[in-house]
Amino acid sequence: MSSQEIINRVNELRELINQNNYQYYVKDEPVIPDAEYDRLMQELIAIENEFPELIINASPTQRVGVAPLDSFPEIKHEAPMLSLGNAFDEDEMTAFDRRIREKLEVDNIEYVAETKLDGLAISILYEDGQFIRAATRGDGTTGEDVTLNVKTIKSIPLTLLDEKYPKRIEIRGEVFMTDDGFKELNDKQKEKGEKLFVNPRNAAAGSLRQLDSRITSQRHLSFFAYGVGIVEGGMMPESHAELLSRLKTWGVPVSPETKVMVKLAACFEYYKSIASRRSSLGYDIDGVVFKVNRLDQQDIMGTVSRAPRWAIAYKFPPEEELTEILDIEIQVGRTGALTPVARLKPVFVGGVTVTNATLHNEDELKRKDVRIGDTVIVRRAGDVIPEVLKVVMERRLKNTKMFKMPSNCPICGSDVEREEGEAVIRCSGGLYCSAQQIQAIIHFASRRAMNIDGLGDKLIEQLVEKKLICNVSDLYTLTQEQLAELERMAEKSATNIIAALNNSKETTLDRFLYALGIREVGDATARSLANHFGNLSAIQSASQDTLEKVDDVGPIVARHIVTFFLQSHNREVIKDLLKAGIHWPDIKIRTEQPLKGKTFVITGTLETMKRDEAKQRLMELGAKVSGSVSKKTDYVIAGSEPGSKAEKARKLDVEILDEASFLSLIKSNQAID
Ligand code: IVH
Repeated sequence: MSSQEIINRVNELRELINQNNYQYYVKDEPVIPDAEYDRLMQELIAIENEFPELIINASPTQRVGVAPLDSFPEIKHEAPMLSLGNAFDEDEMTAFDRRIREKLEVDNIEYVAETKLDGLAISILYEDGQFIRAATRGDGTTGEDVTLNVKTIKSIPLTLLDEKYPKRIEIRGEVFMTDDGFKELNDKQKEKGEKLFVNPRNAAAGSLRQLDSRITSQRHLSFFAYGVGIVEGGMMPESHAELLSRLKTWGVPVSPETKVMVKLAACFEYYKSIASRRSSLGYDIDGVVFKVNRLDQQDIMGTVSRAPRWAIAYKFPPEEELTEILDIEIQVGRTGALTPVARLKPVFVGGVTVTNATLHNEDELKRKDVRIGDTVIVRRAGDVIPEVLKVVMERRLKNTKMFKMPSNCPICGSDVEREEGEAVIRCSGGLYCSAQQIQAIIHFASRRAMNIDGLGDKLIEQLVEKKLICNVSDLYTLTQEQLAELERMAEKSATNIIAALNNSKETTLDRFLYALGIREVGDATARSLANHFGNLSAIQSASQDTLEKVDDVGPIVARHIVTFFLQSHNREVIKDLLKAGIHWPDIKIRTEQPLKGKTFVITGTLETMKRDEAKQRLMELGAKVSGSVSKKTDYVIAGSEPGSKAEKARKLDVEILDEASFLSLIKSNQAID
């Protein structure tokens, strides 16, 4: 680069950084991911280090953050609020450790390791143990007075406990939002039709900097302290770790992940262990922080350009990155859900190269206004599927293309349906749709459905992949020879599977209905349908209204049933299944209720069915099922480990049935002949 080119690049970097500072700190609406921002800053720092004559007072490297909003009063920090230097790999950490060991001339430095919380730094002043005021970090020297808002954070004490605190003390730490708090807030925003927050950090910033503290008080903000500012009228401990434990005794929340260690190897281990638990902590962190533990050693190390030389942030690989959308395609999931998926220009994010990211559903696609050709922020956190967070509108070009959700399934051509109040669009092809085949067949063969012994998931996958079967009716065309030729299939097993297939043909109407895999028709609903209508053709031709008359069937389930039977492919498959010989005994439609007037209580664990199913069975026979034992209870059904309810039954002389007697009671009152 020529010197003019270098000057141009420096100016460009400064402008980009300033613009993004404003977006990030003032508007709480970052347009680029943190990782990109860090890179711009690192590039500027590197150039300024090489050409110090280019450094000017107003360079973003000379201050961190921007001036606070006018609308909050300013507070000048009595001690500046520092920032942290970063390390991105083990070499940079090794260099940090070496600098410290060399300066202190000590070999075994004690470090305190902490998580680097991804929120906002605040400083809270306490006088005589009383909460006086709180300020944001601002530019490190002057922050915003957010006293009223911080007071609404319930975990922050308004009066310190234990009395052995200094007369005046500034307690510093991070305000952040937990994943749960974030989800709850965005759910509420969605309900109210208001703007969603991109991530917990933005939500925390937006909440803390509300001019109306009543709004802040409804947001679930959290706080962990990680240090102090000025301390007057009290003794400081000898180490940072002791300081943290004192904070705890005063009732101030401190991260539970804090740990003291010696030697770099232990620091690396801590980094790895936190990295592996990152997605399950319940809040966002973007790295870990190592601090020299002894305060006298911290003093010797001192501070350089607003960052202490005794601490460092060892950052995690970024979870958010910029990339471009090459195309948008539709993926059909195993339950028939149509998901718009963005094909991306490959990008390294969250530790892997990502080429696809979910756009979730039609509403999200519209809300984010994502178009083919857009530059977007992609997020990949932990093992979660990568997602497109937002479009960088500033980078939108003229020739971007909108995407419209299809009205037919791209796999099988069936109509798609969208339930009222539901975001997901689904293929109505059911058993016919190859995207849903494997899952549908697995469900069909399962124990509570057709109960086809030996026909496991892996085998079904193999059969579909080898195109030996396409849908559930093809199962009954399989031959012993075809099965015996499959990998890892002994002749005996092939014989057994053919026998199991033949056995499964003798079933019941409710099992068959359940096996069809109609959305939201579980085994209990299938049983209600079978008992109500008595035969398949009545169910197949039932109207929405008629279906809604069945116990357990609401408008949504009724609609699923109608749509399912309207699809000619589904009717075709059913016809083939019946042709293959599937049959069931007739059902006597029940009008009498043999257990009417009897009250049952179920306790303990039943071997043969879940408690809900037992309850359903009893209710079908007219019984009432109650949660507690009283004089009015007629029978208590006791499974294993029955507990206090069985004891009470004994005291009140209520008859206790074990599981076997319960089963024979149902059987003797069974509807099916
Ligand atoms: S110590 C003495 N410890 O990171 C240095 N900061 O990049 C002052 N942060 O402004 C900061 N977790 O908002 C420290 N355990 C932690 C932290 C932490 C998050 C934030 C804080 C600070 C920024 C510096």
